[in-house]
Order: sequence, then structure tokens, then C-alpha cells
Amino acid sequence: EKAGYKHFMAKEIAEQPVVIADALKHYTSADGALRLPEALDFKGIDRVTLVACGTASYACHVAKYWFEQIAGLPADIDIASEFRYRDPVLSPASMAIFVSQSGETADTLAALRHVRDKVAKVVSVINVPTSSIARESDLALPILAGVEVGVASTKAFTCQLTVLALMALKAAQDHGRIDPHALAAKLQSLRSVPGLMNAALALSDPIARVAEELAKAQDILFLGRGPMFPLALEGALKLKEISYIHAEGYASGELKHGPIALIDAAVPVIVLAPKDALFDKTVSNMQEVMARNGKVLLLSDAEGVAETGKGTWKTLTLPGVEPLWAPILYAVPAQLLAYHTAVAKGTDVDQPRNLAKSVTVE
Ligand code: F6R
Repeated sequence: EKAGYKHFMAKEIAEQPVVIADALKHYTSADGALRLPEALDFKGIDRVTLVACGTASYACHVAKYWFEQIAGLPADIDIASEFRYRDPVLSPASMAIFVSQSGETADTLAALRHVRDKVAKVVSVINVPTSSIARESDLALPILAGVEVGVASTKAFTCQLTVLALMALKAAQDHGRIDPHALAAKLQSLRSVPGLMNAALALSDPIARVAEELAKAQDILFLGRGPMFPLALEGALKLKEISYIHAEGYASGELKHGPIALIDAAVPVIVLAPKDALFDKTVSNMQEVMARNGKVLLLSDAEGVAETGKGTWKTLTLPGVEPLWAPILYAVPAQLLAYHTAVAKGTDVDQPRNLAKSVTVE
């Protein structure tokens, strides 16, 4: 069942190029157009509210950047356990989007019921089409990841991101924010992601070597800016879940507002920094870490590594990618770092202590 892999998690990480390519094939046409269900209509929608738990909530957090940047649409995000007990002020013309791999997460389902009659449309992004969350939404979009067995979510996360990216493009189209030419270009860059992921998977051995060092750490920080900030949160969550090493993700610019006090030679700092518009800002944050003897592991592309690799503890070079979609690609090394660190520590990768695959109780 593990198809030759030592763990389901390793198999599911490796499956990502295939399942993402399949999802893209399903939801787009070869001539560069979107092929999402007609019911996914953003015309007249003035705001999206995205709600989920855990890893799925980080997918929502990335999508917030996309809805704002690509579609110019206001986007709110929240975690379901808070949202369900808040009194969210919702526009009656808004779309509420619930993201859940299992479709059975109790808090996410309660959050859906909390707003069902208060918004124009309830859309879910799920992996299990027969799930409660799918059944109770006006429209359910399957992420087509296939069964995910490993407790730590991997391929479901990147498939959630892929479907959310297509939704943001549809919102842009429906709001007249993107012309057909620009849309085709964005879709083409998205379609290149599975191929780039294969190159990222090929970094498994160098990542395993770095992970032997990371496994000795007590605390690890992840930094990212823009849509890479939620990926820093996801990288830290994945590492915590399966290696039991304390890890935190921060927005790079937030470092000097407190967390920099944690930096010393014993704290590895993993910087997720593709060469994008904010690259120089992240690099200056990275230099602040290095000035305090912090051990920086830089994940960037060839251009970024060439410019700033000096003085870092280690670097991992990823292929260049359209900056918007970098969180999808960089999810792979983030997952591999967690995976190999857990393997180096000898923890139970597929069944981490205290965790369940589907959290159906509050
Ligand atoms: C992390 C993880 C959890 C889930 C969360 C939501 O690796 O698996 O954080 O993402 O419990 O689960 P779903 O997506 O099933 O609602």
C-alpha cells in the first residue's frame, strides 16, 4: 500500500506532482481557460470569508493574498474554532469558503452552520465529496488529492492551494480584473508547478542531510513574507506535529518585534524566500538573524541563493517559479524537512502521538 515508500507521508509527498496536475487538468481546459462549475460565480460577490482548521487554515491564509492581489476582492480568514463563537460581521453579498480535507472537522462544520443563512453562498473545498461539510454547502469543490493516510496533511494542502488559486483566478475573471491573455499566462505558470515540484522532490537527499542537524535542535523558526508567511506557519506546524521539535512561523518583518530575542547559535532559522518583489526585505531580516549568530537555512531559487547565500548556514536551491505560486512549490521542501527530521529522530511519522487524522470532536 505504501508503494515501496517507508511511510505514507513519503508516498503522499511524492504523489503531489501527479495529483496537482490531475486537479489542474480537471478544472482547466487545454486552451488556457478555467473550467470550474458554473455555480462558482463571483459576480455580485463583494467579499470572501475563508475558514478552516490547522493546515487547511494556512491554505486559506495563502488564498487571502491571492484573492486580494489577483481579484482585488476583500478576503477575511479565520480559524474555525474561533469563528464559530464570534459574531462575524458578514456582508450578505459575501461568499463563505470552508476548506477541509476530511470534510468532517467538527469546528469547521459548526462554522459553516454558523453562517449558512447570513451569506450569499457557502462553498466548500474538500477531499471527501460525501463528507458532511460537502453535503451542507451550496457547492463543494473536490480537491482530487486521493486518499490521504498520513496524519500530517501534505498532498491535500497543495491540492487545496491549487483549487483556491483557480478560485481566485475565477473571481478575477468574474470581476473583470484579468484579461484572457493574462489569465492564460497565469494558468500556464500554474501548470508548470507540478514539473517544478519534481525538481523539488529531487532535493530529498540534501534535505535529509540538513535534517540530521535540525533533529538536534530544541527550537526552530520559519520566516516568510507575503504568501510565504502562511507557508512559514505550515512548515512550523508540520515539523512540530511529526518531529515534536518546537517550531514557530513568523512573518519576516515581525521578527524584530520580539522573536529575535530567541536567536542564538542553537536556533536554526529556516527562511523561505523565493526571489520575489519582497526578497530584499526578507534578506535584510535574514541578515539581522546572522548578525546574532543565528543559523540560517535559506530556501530560494538560483538567483536568490547567488545573491545572498554567503554567510548562511546552509542553502537549498529550488527552481524559479511565478512568485504567486511559490507557496505551492515550497510546500514540498517544507514537508520534506519535517519528514526527514522526524525520521532522523525516530518518531512515528504517520501516526504522531496525540493526533487524529480527522478531528470530529470539539
Ligand atoms: C496538519 C493537519 C491538521 C488538519 C486539520 C484540519 O498536518 O493534518 O492541522 O489540517 O485538523 O483537518 P481537515 O482538513 O480534515 O478539516
